[in-house]
Amino acid sequence: MIVAIDGPAASGKGTLAKRIAAHFGLAHLDTGLLYRAVARDVRNRGEALDDAAAAARAAGSLDPTTLDDPALRDPGLGEAASIVARIPQVRAAMLDYQRAFARSEQGAVLDGRDIGTVVCPDADVKLFVTATAKVRAERRHREKIARGEAATFEAVLDDIQRRDRRDAGRAASPMRPAADAFLLDTSNLDIEAAFDTAVGVIARKVGQRGRC
Ligand code: CDP
Repeated sequence: MIVAIDGPAASGKGTLAKRIAAHFGLAHLDTGLLYRAVARDVRNRGEALDDAAAAARAAGSLDPTTLDDPALRDPGLGEAASIVARIPQVRAAMLDYQRAFARSEQGAVLDGRDIGTVVCPDADVKLFVTATAKVRAERRHREKIARGEAATFEAVLDDIQRRDRRDAGRAASPMRPAADAFLLDTSNLDIEAAFDTAVGVIARKVGQRGRC
């Protein structure tokens, strides 16, 4: 079984994807890490993030064994990742790895922006996880404060909206729900309620196909 989970920053898709994978015994790939790793490698080489040739070179030589680098989770890298993620050659270079992962023997959950539309259009279940920009900014702001970082709510909201525009507005694989995706709005749901809803959707879908 392949579960595709897409959605914008701080929608809760990462936490959901992890829990769904554990619940159904599936492998999990956070595909944002791929674009974060490309951005890290471009920076480490002292090249510009919006230099398409430099980003394509970094994508072509990406070492997937470095995806567990804790530095990739650095919140600032999300913005950098969205810059290299606009470049078609970068996206193309990430496809084989993602599709091979999706074929994991035990099945897989992949979360990102274009899993249901481009990477795995034949996924068994597609979820598009959203929440209003205000709610997502509140979540990110709370996380930052908890980590002891100085950040205003307005700056976090601005960051989220800029990234939404970049991800949804790009020509190559823009972030959008697949036509057959289940829309899960978590604006008024805590993680438990969102998880219960997602498990129900997956069980129904897979049950219908007799492959539960
Ligand atoms: O965790 P957060 O949502 O902040 O970021 P992420 O999922 O790690 O993704 C970082 C950036 O990578 C996104 O803003 C997208 O521009 C890009 N990305 C993408 O284009 N396609 C994906 N499948 C995953 C991430």
